[in-house]
Amino acid sequence: DRLDNSLLVIFGGTGDLARRKLYPALFNLFVDGFLPPALGVIAVGRRGFTRDSFRQEILLPSLETFSRRAASMDAYFEPFATRLHYFRTDIYDPEGYTRLEQFLVELEEAGGSRGNRIFYLAVAPEHFGPVIRSLKETGLVPARGWQRVVIEKPFGHDLPSATELNRQLREAFSEEEIYRIDHYLGKEMIQNIMVIRFANTFFEPVWNNKYIDHVQITSAETVGVENRGGYYDRAGALRDMVQNHLLQLVTLVAMEPPASLATEAIRDEKVKVLRSLKPLDAAAVSKNAIRGQYGAGEIDGQMVPPYRQEKEVAPDSTTETFVALKLFIDNFRWAGVPFYLRTGKRLPLKVTEIILQFKSLPDILYFKEYGELRPNLLVIRVQPLEGVYVQLNAKRPGNNNYIVPIRLDFCQNCEVGVNSPEAYERLLYDVMRGDPTLFTRWDEVEAAWKFVDPISAAWAAQGQPQFPNYAAGQWGPPAAQRLLICDARRWWEENGAESIS
Ligand code: BG6
Repeated sequence: DRLDNSLLVIFGGTGDLARRKLYPALFNLFVDGFLPPALGVIAVGRRGFTRDSFRQEILLPSLETFSRRAASMDAYFEPFATRLHYFRTDIYDPEGYTRLEQFLVELEEAGGSRGNRIFYLAVAPEHFGPVIRSLKETGLVPARGWQRVVIEKPFGHDLPSATELNRQLREAFSEEEIYRIDHYLGKEMIQNIMVIRFANTFFEPVWNNKYIDHVQITSAETVGVENRGGYYDRAGALRDMVQNHLLQLVTLVAMEPPASLATEAIRDEKVKVLRSLKPLDAAAVSKNAIRGQYGAGEIDGQMVPPYRQEKEVAPDSTTETFVALKLFIDNFRWAGVPFYLRTGKRLPLKVTEIILQFKSLPDILYFKEYGELRPNLLVIRVQPLEGVYVQLNAKRPGNNNYIVPIRLDFCQNCEVGVNSPEAYERLLYDVMRGDPTLFTRWDEVEAAWKFVDPISAAWAAQGQPQFPNYAAGQWGPPAAQRLLICDARRWWEENGAESIS
């Protein structure tokens, strides 16, 4: 990998994403020595900051609040801040792009960035197309060196809009130059899935429908829609979380071993999983795609308002804030193994985890009198705890033969002082060194929409849902529990030991 110097232009440079994620990630990379020596960062925004007021009002509070390296501010803030520039313009003003081009050329002539340019679109999705078009029309691309574009989610609203966005992108950039963000792929434990699977002897032989009963993937949040009501009310949990993050997790759990670790080899296997998803027709949607919306309720001992009273949300909104899905992958490895997915806002815990439940043994040797045998579980904990554990049955110490579940538990961030890099650090680092493995290729996005669109369509056809149907602080509507209970299964709580139902 080559970590070339370049200029990183951030559209939306004073926005939420830039402040919460991008500057802190860049700063952390800087402190840890992972930035190319002459990287220049240009924050593009509409507001009238000077370089200095940008530094004081945006950069400083962003790093103080959100950087895991905030303790290093005294030593590193000044040298880091000298790499940042603020450029004021309206992204709809063509003349602004001409000025930006001049500014970049000046920086390129003065510094060592060699004409390499990264454009980061940290703006609302409706601006993606217009910004790309302007980049091309005003000659900011093609760059004199290499060029890359980083595009935040959502990548379209459905397959037709995603296809159109992709067409616009491809007019200015080649597929290899496009980095479509799915920040879940930057998370440590998600990168670990492939290592756990393909760097150990004992998982791969049982990683199939002969031994695995089912898979559960949960990504739960306690927060509501925060200040993103306007976006969220048009998206909903299916588009916001399932189409991208959750289906990406499915691909990593289910994919075949790639021919090599080369980017395209891995992406080829991932897309095959998406193409093997059994489509849900309207009847299957009614049974296997559960949606919910939160009402008022209690989170961490505090009463919180219902979704319909959140800022910028329609008072009669029918947007789902919770989804539970049962899906199947129609291939040799997974035929017949249900994958249960669930995600939602205002759930009891912030937790993302993947659980593989193994098939039960025939009930011959250890009878009920010794205690009930628990299924073997492999649990991959993505957040907030990062780690992996295996649940086994073992004898309880003592003069009786009682059997109890035990855990072989590895937690990688439980010790004080362990500080995993954030997803955006790894992703920005990969953009700078030109490794798109942890970004989604167009055909993955396309296949994911092909799976998701019929679900939205069936929901729309079903008419008005009975919303709200879960109180904030509950694990979604009762139908989400029934989805598993009907199959004589249950969701595992984050500790893997107790049923939440
Ligand atoms: C984003 C969604 O992609 O992921 C948000 O748009 C969601 O609605 C967020 O809150 C969750 O990310 P994380 O890293 O906190 O699990």
